[in-house]
Amino acid sequence: MQSSLLLLAALSPLVLALPEAKTGIAKRASTLIPTSCFDSTSSLTEYFEYNYPWGDTHNGAAIMSSANAVISTAGTLTLNATYTGASDYAYDSGTVYSKQTFTVEASGGLDFSADFIAPVATGTWPAFWLDGANSWPPEIDIAEWKGTGDISFNTFNTSSEVEALNVDYPSPTEFHTVKAELRDENGSDISVKFYLDGDLITTQYASGFTGQPLYLIIDLQMEGSSGSPGPTGTTLYEIKNLEVVSQNP
Ligand SMILES: *[C@@H]1O[C@H](CO)[C@@H](O)[C@H](O)[C@H]1NC(C)=O
Ligand SMILES: *[C@@H]1O[C@H](CO)[C@@H](O)[C@H](O)[C@H]1NC(C)=O
Ligand SMILES: *[C@@H]1O[C@H](CO)[C@@H](O)[C@H](O)[C@H]1NC(C)=O
Repeated sequence: MQSSLLLLAALSPLVLALPEAKTGIAKRASTLIPTSCFDSTSSLTEYFEYNYPWGDTHNGAAIMSSANAVISTAGTLTLNATYTGASDYAYDSGTVYSKQTFTVEASGGLDFSADFIAPVATGTWPAFWLDGANSWPPEIDIAEWKGTGDISFNTFNTSSEVEALNVDYPSPTEFHTVKAELRDENGSDISVKFYLDGDLITTQYASGFTGQPLYLIIDLQMEGSSGSPGPTGTTLYEIKNLEVVSQNP
């Protein structure tokens, strides 16, 4: 009894010394999408819809369908773009978007992370991005690969006011980890910290994103901003260990 009281007395200054802010954040973090989300087709469809929130095409040469967004290995979502040569959309490909929307609340934040094998050939345009559910912008490209061999991190205040960074993306046939931490700055603007393989690459700021609901979109668009002609075979984009965590109060 005596020794355990001594132990408690010895430990209590350490416990009391933990910073208030740190314990506060740890307590309120909650998982919005768990890493098990790609374990099966039923877990995929619990958290995601097929195609884009507005339909099956966007700003490139692909027409999206559920047949091209599959769980072929448990734990991994594979998006498959196949050249068809059709005159309107030359590729069949895959896209999913989150069933829920995500909002950075005042004094809060959101963390998005996943591992990717992303194609970087000319005409291939895989992306992992946030898009305003009520308006555009907001847009945050947590990662996109525009057919140059680089990875890009971008934040749009308006269609013309864009902070964009392209950085070298080595060994694209191996998995790389991308993470973005979104944080409210002042009840209106947010900061976004972009990480690649655990290293902080850049911090960008966005105007008026606090309180705006966002969809998470994972798409394998083709041509468009990634140049042309794209490949005439099959292109795969693989995603695993996706997790979305809320740091909102
Ligand atoms: C990609 O899709 C094409 C056409 O639907 C199919 O033939 C091919 O087997 C798919 N590849 C993979 C690896 O899923
Ligand atoms: C937040 O900061 C921006 C400048 O970065 C400023 O324009 C805006 O008015 C601020 N908003 C609030 C609610 O303080
Ligand atoms: C977007 O708005 C934020 C917040 O006002 C600002 O810090 C940032 O510089 C703006 N981005 C661009 C590209 O001007």
